[in-house]
Amino acid sequence: MTRVREIVVVAKGGPVEVRERIAAAPAAGSALIEVEASGVAFADVHMLHGTYPAQPKFPFTPGYELVGKVRQVGEGVPAQLVGRRVAALTVTGGWRSFAEVPAKSLVPVPEEIAGPVAAAVVLNGITAYQLAHQVAKISAGQTVLVHGASGGVGSLLVQLALNAGARVLGTASAAKHPAVRELGAEPIDYRGDVVARVRELAPGGVDVVFDHLGAGSYARSWNLLARNGIVVGYGSASTYDRPGNRFLPYLPLLGRVLGYRLRGLLGAANGRRASFYGIRPDMKARATLVAVFELVRSGQLEVPIAEQLPLVEAGAALEKMISGRGVGKIVLIP
Ligand SMILES: NC(=O)c1ccc[n+]([C@@H]2O[C@H](COP(=O)([O-])OP(=O)(O)OC[C@H]3O[C@@H](n4cnc5c(N)ncnc54)[C@H](OP(=O)(O)O)[C@@H]3O)[C@@H](O)[C@H]2O)c1
Repeated sequence: MTRVREIVVVAKGGPVEVRERIAAAPAAGSALIEVEASGVAFADVHMLHGTYPAQPKFPFTPGYELVGKVRQVGEGVPAQLVGRRVAALTVTGGWRSFAEVPAKSLVPVPEEIAGPVAAAVVLNGITAYQLAHQVAKISAGQTVLVHGASGGVGSLLVQLALNAGARVLGTASAAKHPAVRELGAEPIDYRGDVVARVRELAPGGVDVVFDHLGAGSYARSWNLLARNGIVVGYGSASTYDRPGNRFLPYLPLLGRVLGYRLRGLLGAANGRRASFYGIRPDMKARATLVAVFELVRSGQLEVPIAEQLPLVEAGAALEKMISGRGVGKIVLIP
């Protein structure tokens, strides 16, 4: 008999409860994972407030990602999988001591990578890698602006861009400038005049901007682009607690993306391109995670961990995520 401890967000805005139950045997095609570590993502904050585009119904168990060991498998899943160390992009349901996950979504985790580090890089690693190499296709000699360079995704974007041979400017709050500098980027205070400072540092404009903030910021980012530059939006962090329809904050953002693309088609964009990225838990994401784990294993990618907390402190972890005090990722340990 396996006892499962899990976190449940009961209703919009909370409460966030710790519950226990007995695990059922895994269904056909699934595996029961004993969770070693699970990450806290900004998407969990959106889901708590009911503002995530793919919002689960309340009550639900959050947890976008997990790392652990396979303890039991359902019908049709090879028995050799039992005992293997794996990761999964679960979207929800990762904040459990044991989690049932479709076997096809599992990715092997190299033994050299510690559990919290591996968990911290599932969602953010796939996102940053796909943004840098598949959407923006950063190349040597480019100048890249990373908004939120001290954050979970941002800190990885900075490193991937530097590894590709780019110069990196990174916005962050002033207290986090030493951390941004340490990563190798030139910090810019987002509470100051970001546009003026970027123009000072890169008078010809920047080649790539990664923007997680939403419509207003996206427009400013577009105006900072050099000829043939690209702005890639991948979030609307500034609207996570905006009440109302969960799609509403994204409409002005997507409107801007389409507007700039139309300008491009009309030949009025000076070669500049506009894009928006959303992660998909598919085969491509799993292949990307294999590549990301290899970068971590070989020491080419550092994964900043802000804090490790026991699973039962998930409510406090969400509050810390909102207050944004740490540098890097918050990880929950069952
Ligand atoms: N599209 C996708 O598939 C996808 C995937 C993953 C994440 N995301 C989105 O990406 C965003 C970031 O996620 P995360 O996990 O990296 O969050 P995070 O670790 O909390 O990082 C967010 C960063 O944003 C910075 N920030 C806050 N206000 C800012 C401003 N006005 N200008 C510039 N930076 C600002 C914060 O800097 P300070 O700490 O210095 O204040 C913090 O470093 C979230 O909106 C999330 O939903 C999207």
